[in-house]
Amino acid sequence: MNQEKTIEEYMSAAAGIISGRNKPMTACVHSYGCQLNFSDGEKIKGMLLKMGCVLTDKPEDAGIVIFNTCAVRENAEDRVFGNLGYIKHYKEKNPEMIICLCGCMASLEHVVEKINRSYKYVDIVFSSSALDKFPKLLLEKLTGEKHIFDTNEYDMPVEGLEQARDSRFKASVPIMFGCNNFCTYCIVPYVRGRERSRRPEDIISEVKNLAASGYKEIMLLGQNVNSYGRDLPDGVDFPGLLELINEIEGDFIIRFMSSHPKDAGKKLIDTIIRCEKAGKHLHLPVQSGSNDILEKMNRKYTIEKYMETIDYARSIIPDFSFTTDIIVGFPNESDEDFEQTLELMKAVKYDNIYSFIYSKRSGTKAAEMEDRISDEEKSRRMTKLLALQREISTESYKRFIGRTMRVLVDGKGKREGTMTGKSGEFIIVEFEGDESLEGSFVNVKITGAKNWAVTGKIIN
Ligand code: SAH
Ligand code: SF4
Ligand code: F3S
Repeated sequence: MNQEKTIEEYMSAAAGIISGRNKPMTACVHSYGCQLNFSDGEKIKGMLLKMGCVLTDKPEDAGIVIFNTCAVRENAEDRVFGNLGYIKHYKEKNPEMIICLCGCMASLEHVVEKINRSYKYVDIVFSSSALDKFPKLLLEKLTGEKHIFDTNEYDMPVEGLEQARDSRFKASVPIMFGCNNFCTYCIVPYVRGRERSRRPEDIISEVKNLAASGYKEIMLLGQNVNSYGRDLPDGVDFPGLLELINEIEGDFIIRFMSSHPKDAGKKLIDTIIRCEKAGKHLHLPVQSGSNDILEKMNRKYTIEKYMETIDYARSIIPDFSFTTDIIVGFPNESDEDFEQTLELMKAVKYDNIYSFIYSKRSGTKAAEMEDRISDEEKSRRMTKLLALQREISTESYKRFIGRTMRVLVDGKGKREGTMTGKSGEFIIVEFEGDESLEGSFVNVKITGAKNWAVTGKIIN
């Protein structure tokens, strides 16, 4: 019987073939969607490097092109099909090019059918849960198979996959995979499976290594981090995990996303406040300000319950920062429903929002709901919401004037001679400085506020 090889064995077999070629094998990985998917993309890059490939950003001249896709909204899917069409011309010139499609779209039946039917030049398709199968699939392709599809659901991604991290100072660390919530508009539970938590000791050891190698920001990731640990026997919940990570030696800031409001209460806020490494910020996706719509979305909280968490945090730290996600134009969202969303935004004074026009995802419950609201009306609502948020940010950012913020410097600012970074509250801070500061913490005395950032001067 054919014995399954280990992932290391598959990688070294593929590396043997790749190093035997007369020219280097270049590979390009394009990730779309959320940070969890980008983190998967970093793992794919890590495996490619181990197999002897050279990474490039240009798909046109790569030997292996990988589209690590997102399925959350229709336009995300359209973009990928557009890019597949674009790369086809290059494959015609270079028939040896290997094209892979992975990520969330690869778990959708209609996508796999469409690839089979109209995108026959795609060589490898594998789902997010088959990430660690990639070396095996690539080896099969390199040794002559034509088309390789592995869209099976697997339990848990293996531990220990090396990540080729995109940043040398900011690291994302998935703590769990999948989602059990089935919000009626959302495709994620269908493409990422049920919630599976990584063991706390694996997470701790990864963060310890990152801190020891000088990483300054640790972003803990999950579709709903507050249900972390419910499937584990250890009894460590998300606040417990935060405490453990906070104790790890090193100068770094802890961030995390996303928190589901149904599970984010006083205990979480108390823990964020107690953990000195945790940014005083919570991304708390509300989706809508109308209880009626929240119920139709199956979100399992009311605005009153949501506001309790906000008010509690601000009763202890008045400057505590909140950001959110909002969906505009959920099926039959009335004018009153929409007005309630605007009212909520004014009440919370979010520092930033990520807003999306509702996109129908077939297979979800909301896709079956009647919707009489026109696209024009949805766009009009979106414009109004964005204008309101600009006003709110400009006004609320003023609360930081006169304060000194500790900022992790990200990169160059928009204006010549400036740099930007983020404060613990996740606020963009712009100041005069040069690139040598990138990746370090600086203290900035805040002197002004714009609608997208606060501005200031570095002090010693
Ligand atoms: N797990 C995270 C969200 C992941 S998806 C959470 O629950 O907060 C990120 C955001 O995309 C969601 O918060 C929602 O605002 C948006 N989104 C998801 N499905 C969508 C759809 N069908 N149409 C428009 N926006 C959607
Ligand atoms: Fe989607 Fe809801 Fe799960 Fe977030 S919590 S991923 S919005 S189903
Ligand atoms: Fe998109 Fe998948 Fe993330 S659908 S938002 S890439 S989990």
